Amino acid sequence: MTNETISESVTTAATHATIANIGAHEGRSVTLRGWLYALRASGKLLFPIFRDGTGTIQGIVPKAAVTPETFETVRQLTQESSVVVTGKVRADSRAPGGYELDVEAVEVVQRVPDDDPFPITRKEHGVDFLMEHRHLWIRTPRQSAILRIRAEIVKAARDYLDDNGFTLTDPPILTPAACEGTSTLFPVDYFGDEAFLTQSGQLYIESTALALGKVYSFGPTFRAEKSKTRRHLTEFWMVEPEWAYAGLDDLMGLAENFLSFIVERVLTRRAADIAVIGRDVTKLQAIKPPFPRLSYDDAVAMLHEAYDRGLAPDLIQSRFEYGNDFGSPDETYLSSQFDRPLMVHRYPAAVKAFYMEPDPVDPKYALCVDVLAPEGYGEVIGGSQRVASYELLKKRIEEHNLPLESFQWYLDLRRYGSVPHSGFGMGIERAVAWICGLEHVRETIPFARTLNRIYP
Ligand code: 4AD
Ligand code: MG
Repeated sequence: MTNETISESVTTAATHATIANIGAHEGRSVTLRGWLYALRASGKLLFPIFRDGTGTIQGIVPKAAVTPETFETVRQLTQESSVVVTGKVRADSRAPGGYELDVEAVEVVQRVPDDDPFPITRKEHGVDFLMEHRHLWIRTPRQSAILRIRAEIVKAARDYLDDNGFTLTDPPILTPAACEGTSTLFPVDYFGDEAFLTQSGQLYIESTALALGKVYSFGPTFRAEKSKTRRHLTEFWMVEPEWAYAGLDDLMGLAENFLSFIVERVLTRRAADIAVIGRDVTKLQAIKPPFPRLSYDDAVAMLHEAYDRGLAPDLIQSRFEYGNDFGSPDETYLSSQFDRPLMVHRYPAAVKAFYMEPDPVDPKYALCVDVLAPEGYGEVIGGSQRVASYELLKKRIEEHNLPLESFQWYLDLRRYGSVPHSGFGMGIERAVAWICGLEHVRETIPFARTLNRIYP
């Protein structure tokens, strides 16, 4: 059967239930529009598992209860064939979603042919094979659950900021200059001039913050560093609040409330999906303000103690060199010491970005914070108070060999009504990896872009 035979009735039927809200229809017949995920047969009983994008449900088809044609149709269904199923909803405490479907009728929309079966079966596949078939892999229950949780995280982030007085202001994606370091840019030809895909909306939302007070951006950002770690994507989505008249302490307060709100939302609204992926919820239930705060110096002392006493020989193989930025194993060790995200503040200014305000107590340090997720997930948020002084910012731009002409507009923000202001960026994929408990960020976005992959 090919596409030509797809019935038009499937898009026009009046009342359709979804698997996610099937409980509202208990005891009644409903029609589900979806796909066959799996089929098990046991003599005169068939157990098809259907999925519809909102979840999965097991159907029961006893030979004696349906017409011979219906029984035969189900018996011959192939994985991922599209089907419109009618059946009666029955509560069953043993079923994963709490309900089963006593199947009455099945209309096949497209039957996947026997000689060209769905490539992803329930046996183990290697990750390269799965990524090569990512467009199909996302149909499997675990991947679908992750994508629904991602959507919830995005919505929670937006709701939190919207409800706390932040106005969404979208920065450009095509930009003339770097923000987070010049070596990590993707160049694009802009009508004969060189432009770059944005690394962060920050510089632009600093200007909208001075216009509107509290703002945020949410959009795709790009990093060209040739990094292959399980935390790096070349294209990722970042949410960035920026706040006029706010200092580092305000920013840390925002970060802990923001993250706690997001985790709480996922726990209450996506409990079924969290169960599908088998995430330990007790770890997430612990995510409540206040979060521990540790200065860079104290964090280094912790790493030194761990090394000197041989506390984490698998992670810490050499003595951390004071003044460096933390590597993944350092972050993993530090964050594994706490049950909540750890806020490490006041790094040496030398290892951080040019725009960070120096600590007035000791200008060797920057008024910045990295939030390290627990269980070894590493940095999910990076932010700082911004340099407010025109003279200092100009000096920093020059010291970093950045083209002063390109930054005139950014310097204007310090010419006209400069104020202390602060902001951070949270990578959505890092947040999804942590909240879902995933090994690698490649499963946190529908189509991951990494050093080695841009297909499909
Ligand atoms: O620490 P980063 O580089 O900070 C900035 O871009 C600031 N301009 C943000 C700001 O202050 N408005 O990136 C912020 C966050 C990181 O903490 C991490 O969660 C995520 O973005 N991130 C990445 N996620 C996936 N792949 C990458 N290559 C990432 N680089 C950063
Ligand atoms: Mg960072």
